[in-house]
Amino acid sequence: MFLKNKHNSRVQGMTLSMSTKTIFITGGAGFIGSALIRYLIADTTCRVVNVDKLTYAGNLESLASVASSERYHFEREDICDASAMTRLIAQYQPDAIMHLAAESHVDRSITGPAAFIETNINGTFTLLEAARQYWDALDDEGKAAFRFHHISTDEVYGDLEPGLLFTEDTAYAPSSPYSASKAASDHLVRAWQRTYDFPVLITNCSNNYGPNHFPEKLIPLMILNALAGKALPIYGDGQQVRDWLYVEDHVRALYCVLTTGKVGETYNIGGHNEKTNLDVVTTLCQILEQLAPDKPAGVTNYVDLITYVTDRPGHDLRYAIDASKIQRELGWQPEETFDSGLLKTVEWFINNSAWVENVSSGAYQQWIDQHYEGPAR
Ligand code: NAD
Ligand code: DAU
Repeated sequence: MFLKNKHNSRVQGMTLSMSTKTIFITGGAGFIGSALIRYLIADTTCRVVNVDKLTYAGNLESLASVASSERYHFEREDICDASAMTRLIAQYQPDAIMHLAAESHVDRSITGPAAFIETNINGTFTLLEAARQYWDALDDEGKAAFRFHHISTDEVYGDLEPGLLFTEDTAYAPSSPYSASKAASDHLVRAWQRTYDFPVLITNCSNNYGPNHFPEKLIPLMILNALAGKALPIYGDGQQVRDWLYVEDHVRALYCVLTTGKVGETYNIGGHNEKTNLDVVTTLCQILEQLAPDKPAGVTNYVDLITYVTDRPGHDLRYAIDASKIQRELGWQPEETFDSGLLKTVEWFINNSAWVENVSSGAYQQWIDQHYEGPAR
């Protein structure tokens, strides 16, 4: 069977029909979660329930284009709250759970690991248990159709030697509190499948970039610092390599895995875009020279703002994904090149200064505090 989306692309080997299904998404107000929800509302007929605690990284403004859809629901809750998860799952009766909620920034995990252990490990455990109890009570047809999809990272595999690629069989060797917490949550998800026959899928993806990216991460931080005439801090010598994927390619891959992936399997997702951090920042500076030639006072060339700073402790030198399994078995491949994706990203940040201003000034968080009750952040 084939599913045709509005871009006319064909998703092969469809095993889970999502035409009128309800998808429960955790972390839907974050960078990737919001891109996923925008995709699901625009390109599918699924009903979406966004369950998000709205930490500093959650932003409902990223969902403004879908907020009025009858197929979109928002619930401000913490995935660590077992009774809230049980209640919401019973209320919405999801056909699938796509679990993205996490603390996601490596630097924050180094200075404050506790929140990473709580949300990424305990939160995943809590959600798994609430979901398993719901699934256990479904009839045979419902049980067979249900999916729990854990959205994970390539960082679980740790540092990669030159010439090698991460495959789905690469041994786990996480380096940071963040990646260790994601590795732990992957292990929990696999254990729930093996022990309880709970129908899980896991995806491990490389570095995403694109619109609505929180400006603590490399690419948005560098764009906004350059536009403000601030230093562009490169950790160490800038020769660390990441494999970049445009966020809209990632969310297409996630839906592809959810609907056509084989239960119990892991799929690596990557963009075939290995770049050193220094290359990324230099390319950004070149794009900004074209798109924003009127520079802040005192700046002659954006590239002159590059400043080498103390390296990140435990910094992984290289990540690179072998994405041949998802391409071969499910027919997914990225549509954006790094050049086209980066250009779109810089344009988005230049054209969405209100979003940036609200995120940076804290005005958005004040608005949330006034408008939404829910767990403390
Ligand atoms: P993000 O930090 O932008 O968003 C995380 C979201 O989770 C936010 O909306 C936040 O409010 C929510 N959240 C945090 N703690 C919560 C809790 N206890 N209960 C409910 N909601 C909570 O993260 P992102 O970059 O969009 O990443 C999403 C997922 O994808 C994460 O699991 C991350 O590990 C994974 N991932 C990210 C990348 C990447 O490059 N950004 C790559 C691979 C995998
Ligand atoms: O690989 C997937 C992971 O990618 C995700 O699981 C994480 O959630 C996501 O945050 C990202 O992790 P990284 O640590 O790779 O992303 P970050 O943008 O923080 O850093 C990218 C690279 O740039 C990394 O080598 C560190 C470096 N860096 C980062 C910042 C913020 C700098 O040199 N200077 C900076 O100011």
